[in-house]
Amino acid sequence: MKLTVVGCGYVGLVTGSCLAEIGHDVICTDNDAAKMQMLESGKLPIFEPDLDGVVEKTRREGRLKFEPKVADAVQAGEAILICVGTPPLPSGDADLSAIDDVARLIGTVSRQPKLVIEKSTVPAQTGQELKRVLTIYGRKNNLEFRVASNPEFLREGTAVGDFLHPDRIVVGVEDEKSEKQLREIYKPVTDQKFNCPVHLKGCPPIPPPELIVTTINSAEIIKHASNSFLAMKISYANMVADLAEKLGANIDEVMHAVGRDPRIGPNFLNAGLGFGGFCLPKDLQAFVRLAERNGVDFSLLRQAEIVNKQRIDQFVEKVRRALWVIREKHIGVLGLAFKPNTDDIRFSPAMDLVNRLISEGASLRVYDPEAMERARHSLKNVQFGANAYEIAKDADALLIATEWDEFRNLDWDRIHELMSRPLVLDGRNLLSPGAMKAAGFEYYSMGRPE
Ligand code: UDX
Repeated sequence: MKLTVVGCGYVGLVTGSCLAEIGHDVICTDNDAAKMQMLESGKLPIFEPDLDGVVEKTRREGRLKFEPKVADAVQAGEAILICVGTPPLPSGDADLSAIDDVARLIGTVSRQPKLVIEKSTVPAQTGQELKRVLTIYGRKNNLEFRVASNPEFLREGTAVGDFLHPDRIVVGVEDEKSEKQLREIYKPVTDQKFNCPVHLKGCPPIPPPELIVTTINSAEIIKHASNSFLAMKISYANMVADLAEKLGANIDEVMHAVGRDPRIGPNFLNAGLGFGGFCLPKDLQAFVRLAERNGVDFSLLRQAEIVNKQRIDQFVEKVRRALWVIREKHIGVLGLAFKPNTDDIRFSPAMDLVNRLISEGASLRVYDPEAMERARHSLKNVQFGANAYEIAKDADALLIATEWDEFRNLDWDRIHELMSRPLVLDGRNLLSPGAMKAAGFEYYSMGRPE
């Protein structure tokens, strides 16, 4: 099927290239000319494991194209997937202006009726608004558009695998033709028939995903409800960690046992600096605002947000307790990305931590395996190290802010030698307290006995 993806951000690029990977003809477009130029020249604006291989292969095989003229790209697709950003407004509401722009353009330039699929995370009722805008702007050509909601559940760092082996595919539709088209689009995934670029030696036995058909309104809520629940789980684990610390319990042991209950599940119970990234915090906020505007008091979720915001204070207090005075101390921070395997620093707890320590007058050196380039644009008054050893040299403390595997596998004896004071504060519970103590470190983590 001929598909057009509007918006070449993270979701658009992964979605477009994976749809091409499973056999569709895909045109990706964006109104950011510089980004389109970069993509056309074969470079990717984001770091995402496996994505470069998929983009390179599908372009070479002629199924993926980057078209800088948005109107041309829109005209060409039988179905249009809207993947533009919906950043948070100061009120917490999602800014839907980019979706509105795309809808007006689709309505104006289309010459045939199309299926318009919202993939961007949007509040409930957006689908209905989208339909209204398309009808108004398509009236001159007497076109009727069908609208569907197809939320994405792609995690940064594993997005290609998530697209091809999803837990579920949600399609919110209002007519049979749209459902049929979406089933056809996802058939290779629901049948698990594709050459998997992630598992080159063959995929593990992963059950095929269920394609769940809902109304458009339900599909829109599912995304917010899923991400808000995940956020709540993390904040819950963080509160239990604080209590465990006070009571001399160990959060790892507690959550391991709690997570064995299939009604709870083992994931998203890791305590630490809290959740960040461009999805969880903003989806949580937008869901709370949506509830408020509809007269539903969702303070349960607001509390999850408050707990999350306090994680940095909590950690900085630990740093202060260990160092006594933070001002002018040489502190190394390992990790800037909001989680490992991505270069994304948007709403990153690690970046919040760095900014907080700068404001406290610390002398900071930072390192991240992938996010340095992006961080350079927004961090002033810090030194960037070429690797973890460089920032450990002569440091009074080393902080772990993102749980990259690379940090787990460092030569910690060497780090011990390099540091001015062998003090490690682990904001992500990455390392083993026993091993760190045995290596001679003063070591503090989150919710584990000191
Ligand atoms: C999220 C959702 O998981 C995905 O389904 C959705 O479609 C997009 O938003 P992503 O933003 O890539 O994905 O990040 P995620 O893996 O959910 O992690 C979010 C944050 O939570 C990170 O900062 C991570 O470090 C933190 N986290 C995660 C914890 O603090 N503890 C945990 O146990 C898990």
